[in-house]
Amino acid sequence: MISIKSDREINLMRHAGHINFLTHEELKKHIKPGITTEKLDKIAHDFILKNDCTPSCLGYEGFPKSICVSINDEVVHGIPGKRKIKNGDIVSIDFCVRYKGYESDSARTYIVGNVSDEVSKLVQNTKEALNIGLSKVKSGAKIGDISHAIEEFAHSKGLGVVEDLVGHGIGTEMHEDPEVPNYGKENTGIVLKSGMTIAIEPMFTLGGKEVCLTDQDDWVIVTEDESPSAHFEHTVLVTDDGYEILTGE
Ligand code: MF3
Ligand code: CO
Repeated sequence: MISIKSDREINLMRHAGHINFLTHEELKKHIKPGITTEKLDKIAHDFILKNDCTPSCLGYEGFPKSICVSINDEVVHGIPGKRKIKNGDIVSIDFCVRYKGYESDSARTYIVGNVSDEVSKLVQNTKEALNIGLSKVKSGAKIGDISHAIEEFAHSKGLGVVEDLVGHGIGTEMHEDPEVPNYGKENTGIVLKSGMTIAIEPMFTLGGKEVCLTDQDDWVIVTEDESPSAHFEHTVLVTDDGYEILTGE
């Protein structure tokens, strides 16, 4: 079932999204060579609690930390720990913030120090793909319009599109209907309506689309060909004439 949010619910999601944004802004100051991923987790965890919200990744299906930190060939769900960020890494940070029963979900990929032009373009183009996907959002458009635009852009840039992970509806649950794939055909799928809230999240690679779990844990998902991967995500509200980013400035 796809829920249409009331004004009251939208306001709660706006607040959750705003704290999500501010948490990303706080983390941004600390993403430098030498910092451990568990330190980033602690900064986010404390910041979210201080703002009377809940870091809802913590304990979600047993996930042990408050944020996901995924480095280089790790696509999503990296578990913070002793690993240190280093020059030349790309670091994807993804997490959900909950406020009075309502979720927000947002991800960004950071370039740390010097990376190749190819890797830099991967990150820039994944960010651009999120904007292209967003530009398709409005009441009356279809999910496939978003999916197709993102996929077409990735392919025009020679990038791989991860298909095993998709965007999603969001509200009282982190993952609700509908699915929002990063591939598909225009004019297919469900029709968007004002008051729906969805998370759009392109995940691209410098290689193929195949991803898998590692044997380290049951969480981190890596590219099969070990190519680097980038991820950007916003939670958005569908409106009559477009959209409102709930996890933006
Ligand atoms: N944004 C991530 C997702 O939609 C957050 C997952 S929380 C985790 O998959 F607990 F699963 F890590
Ligand atoms: Co998500």
